[in-house]
Amino acid sequence: MQLVEYSRYGGAEVLAMATAEKPVPHDDEILIRVHATTVTSGDRLARSLDMPRGYGWLGRLVFGLRGPRQPILGSEFSGEVAAVGTNVRGFLEGDRVFAFPGARFGGYAEYALMSQYGAIAHIPTSLSFEQAAALSFGGCTALKFLSGLGQVQVRDEVAIIGASGGVGSACVQLANYLGAKVTAVCREEHFEKLAELGACDLLDSAELKRQGMRKGHFDIILDTSGSISYRQAEPWLKHGGQLLLVAADLVQALTMYLTPKRNGKTGRVGYASEHAQDLQTLARLASTRTFMPWIERRYAFDEITQAHRDYDESGKRGNWVVNVRP
Ligand SMILES: NC(=O)c1ccc[n+]([C@@H]2O[C@H](COP(=O)([O-])OP(=O)(O)OC[C@H]3O[C@@H](n4cnc5c(N)ncnc54)[C@H](OP(=O)(O)O)[C@@H]3O)[C@@H](O)[C@H]2O)c1
Repeated sequence: MQLVEYSRYGGAEVLAMATAEKPVPHDDEILIRVHATTVTSGDRLARSLDMPRGYGWLGRLVFGLRGPRQPILGSEFSGEVAAVGTNVRGFLEGDRVFAFPGARFGGYAEYALMSQYGAIAHIPTSLSFEQAAALSFGGCTALKFLSGLGQVQVRDEVAIIGASGGVGSACVQLANYLGAKVTAVCREEHFEKLAELGACDLLDSAELKRQGMRKGHFDIILDTSGSISYRQAEPWLKHGGQLLLVAADLVQALTMYLTPKRNGKTGRVGYASEHAQDLQTLARLASTRTFMPWIERRYAFDEITQAHRDYDESGKRGNWVVNVRP
């Protein structure tokens, strides 16, 4: 089979096409013929080890001390079941599935293995492989922060900073689904897209820097951009409001926890994890078009290096899908 691998951390050039034997599933494993995968901020992080300030050691601990532990990136993907191990229940050859291996990766290959107990679920019939491939990374992060940590309620005022990213665009949709009134903070060129995804109010990121946001207005402020401190956000929160940091460097996180809190306001940092149940929730929401990943770009399998180069050079908006099988 063909795959894209890397053996050292660095720029996009560390990624190279290679060939290997098609893997054989163990008793509890499912072999998936990959149709589509994505280029996520997680893939970029594991490739470059360009970690937020203070987290370099954590990057090496998670991704590999001397070099990458997992040579094949691809933190989410979709495809067809090609074979199943003898103990596998609930998945049959030919089933359309999507998977979220997260930091175990594996989607940058024509075939990938998943444990039947891992984050894997069936694709609703109305969804394409491309759409299914891009459901999990942003979707599971949005579920973790908004349903889990934030416990968003109907009519909550929720601001999403960095709303045009893979995670931000998923958060806008999920917050909207949960009944919140969503303010999306992003560059003006993305306003139309974010309104389409469910944002009621739109604020230019440059304007946020200049003027801040409405005082005492938000139940939840979720930041995916890594640019907001607790001190900055505190006046914009209602009594009892929460600042949720999806992306924060160590200094930001520590400062937030050490800053004295008033009026029941809190700040939290969190980490998304991979659960089949979350994938089933996302599949259900996608089947009713309540949640649908914003696919901003598509690449062919042999263009993955270019996709990573584009990401390094100009950043990413929404989700970038790689069609492994044309
Ligand atoms: N805690 C967790 O479990 C978890 C899970 C997933 C991701 N993350 C982290 O969350 C962050 C976002 O991930 P992602 O996948 O959404 O990345 P992404 O797709 O690359 O999106 C990043 C977004 O941030 C926006 N942005 C950058 N600087 C900004 C600023 N100063 N103000 C407003 N917006 C800004 C960018 O918009 P423009 O380029 O248009 O400005 C872009 O839309 C990454 O740092 C990632 O490592 C954390």
